[in-house]
Amino acid sequence: MKHLLKLGDLSPEEILHVLDTADQLKRLHQAGQDPKVLTGKSVALIFNKNSTRTRTSFEVGIYQMGGQGTFLNAATELQIARGEPIQDTARVLGRYYDALVYRTYRQSEVEALAQYSGVPVISGMTDYAHPLQVLTDLMTVREKLGRLEGVRAAFIGDGYNMANSLIVGCLKMGMSLTVACPKGYRPAADVLMFARSCGAPFCLTDSPDEAARGAQVLFTDVWTSMGMEREAERRRRDFAGYTLDAARMALTAPGCLVQHPLPAHRGEEITEEVLEAHAAEIFDEAENRLHVEKAVLAILLAGY
Ligand code: CP
Repeated sequence: MKHLLKLGDLSPEEILHVLDTADQLKRLHQAGQDPKVLTGKSVALIFNKNSTRTRTSFEVGIYQMGGQGTFLNAATELQIARGEPIQDTARVLGRYYDALVYRTYRQSEVEALAQYSGVPVISGMTDYAHPLQVLTDLMTVREKLGRLEGVRAAFIGDGYNMANSLIVGCLKMGMSLTVACPKGYRPAADVLMFARSCGAPFCLTDSPDEAARGAQVLFTDVWTSMGMEREAERRRRDFAGYTLDAARMALTAPGCLVQHPLPAHRGEEITEEVLEAHAAEIFDEAENRLHVEKAVLAILLAGY
């Protein structure tokens, strides 16, 4: 693994290695034994969109491993905001930093950063993919259920970055996945092509009840992602009936987990009642972002 740009670039063995490393680093952290494998290393955290979890967990994780993270606001502070091309920014930052984390809109921007910087690049989320979040979800599901192979999962919501990455991650790890989204909000065409090549473990539907029935893990995400705020009203209408509520949870397998990347919009994609009933696993999921990010950095920068 040279970069983490999207899960489609990783083999199942590489995904498993990230998850095993994250488990190991979590145990070491709990024992107060964080390995200082980033000593002397600097990581740029370049954000073109808001973040609570990704930014702070990277800052804390890099510190725990002895390195230094620099937050760079690409929307308001970097020269990117004034038109400096990404390939020039990449070639400059690559000479200062040991790795670059980038959250932005277009997938082509993180790909360009990787192409030109000469150092490992980690996607902090794009409109196309959210690989760190889905690695975290896989870690959390395995932690709770003891396995991934054969687990029956469903995603209910927008066929956007989370759906794209869940499809690739779940299917590569031997899970089955049903995605329920309204027509017009389907996942990316290349992701659907990959999913269909996997055969029976994948199902695409516009019925959220069909997706929920018998699910052992239910994933959801906001209906209006960052940059879509002007569409919020239309999206609320188009996603009506897709809320994860108690009636829908009643269709799932006993003990069904709920995973939400957060932030959650209570009353839209998930009710307050369901979120609070599943807060333990949802906030464990949020914690696991830290361990997954440390694992990815340890693999890319310290030869794990
Ligand atoms: N789940 C996630 O990426 O959270 P932030 O947007 O707060 O980073």
